[in-house]
Amino acid sequence: MSVRIREAVQRDSKQLVKLSDELIHLEDWSTREVMLTESLNDPASTIFVAEADETIVGFIELRVFPDFVEGSPIAVILNLVVAKDFRKQGIGSQLIQRAGEAADKRNATETHVWTEFDNQQAIHLYTKHGFTDRHLLLERESEGQAS
Ligand SMILES: CC(C)(COP(=O)(O)OP(=O)(O)OC[C@H]1O[C@@H](n2cnc3c(N)ncnc32)[C@H](O)[C@@H]1OP(=O)(O)O)[C@@H](O)C(=O)NCCC(=O)NCCS
Repeated sequence: MSVRIREAVQRDSKQLVKLSDELIHLEDWSTREVMLTESLNDPASTIFVAEADETIVGFIELRVFPDFVEGSPIAVILNLVVAKDFRKQGIGSQLIQRAGEAADKRNATETHVWTEFDNQQAIHLYTKHGFTDRHLLLERESEGQAS
């Protein structure tokens, strides 16, 4: 199977919205569609897709933004998903690699990513690609959003 990594475009949105559900399940995808269009039109955001036979089987979203304290741009990987049937074939690795190259190209001096403490597969993959557990990420849910 040959997999091509390329930047996402608007016509990918249906498949991207559907694939996102493998990371976070939502009953209603309408706000997801709106947010995705915003991301696709935001110059700070780049979404790379992995495509096999015109089917999107994975994606990664990278954001690069200025950090004036750091005195440089920094990058964040927001989301990474590979479709269940296509995992363990190196696609996640290819997507991380491509996002890393894009971050370097945009002069980001560091790239951050977060995942659940028990997501061993993701932690293993990120570690393999040079990420280290150097920081603690704290989260506050907005009022009315806490589960
Ligand atoms: C985490 C996730 C993105 C990994 O994607 P993936 O495509 O399976 O990742 P890879 O295939 O690149 O690497 C995973 C493992 O697959 C195996 N693998 C990779 N290529 C392989 C190949 N050609 N043949 C056999 N096994 C292979 C290896 O065991 C590899 O681990 P290694 O680094 O020790 O070699 C995927 O499991 C996923 O989408 N999970 C749900 C969403 C998620 O948790 N996202 C991350 C948090 S935001």
